[in-house]
Amino acid sequence: MKKIAVYPGSFDPATYGHLDIITRSAKIFDKLLVAVISNPNKKPLFSISERVKILKDTVKDAALKNVSVEAFDGLLVNFMKKKNAKIIIRGLRAVSDFEYEFQMALTNRKLYTEIETVFLTPAEKWTYISSTLVKEIASLKGNVQCFVPPVVEVMLKNKKILTD
Ligand code: PNS
Repeated sequence: MKKIAVYPGSFDPATYGHLDIITRSAKIFDKLLVAVISNPNKKPLFSISERVKILKDTVKDAALKNVSVEAFDGLLVNFMKKKNAKIIIRGLRAVSDFEYEFQMALTNRKLYTEIETVFLTPAEKWTYISSTLVKEIASLKGNVQCFVPPVVEVMLKNKKILTD
């Protein structure tokens, strides 16, 4: 049976850290579905269609053939059931991520007992990056080129929070 994993997140916007986790997961599982939440708790800078487009372009550029990208709404476990997937991928960068991730993993398994969460760590060089910091740097006219794929830099420019 094919092992389908789902990598959920807000991806507002996707960074090289996310791409690192996607690349590692794609090597381990038969199929990886990157699931972008439509309505995250915090109001996103990028719309759902923009966040999906960024990931689709990035995955295409990285030539990751077994990876697809989709938006989702509502409970993650319901989306997983619909997709016949039982593995959730989450990236763990530092100890500070652990508490929230541990709580989510256990809650998701309570809601759907067949679910397992697999935590992957990115390369050390990406462990300190976050979408939040990328947006802050961009809004303060800093260079985000080393943190995000080119498509994100272009879209940040278009949002007028990044100037030349
Ligand atoms: O990138 P993020 O913001 O850390 O991702 C959080 C996400 C989208 C994975 C989480 O908020 C989620 O799964 N939301 C869907 C609603 C849900 O299932 N909530 C219960 C989670 S225990």
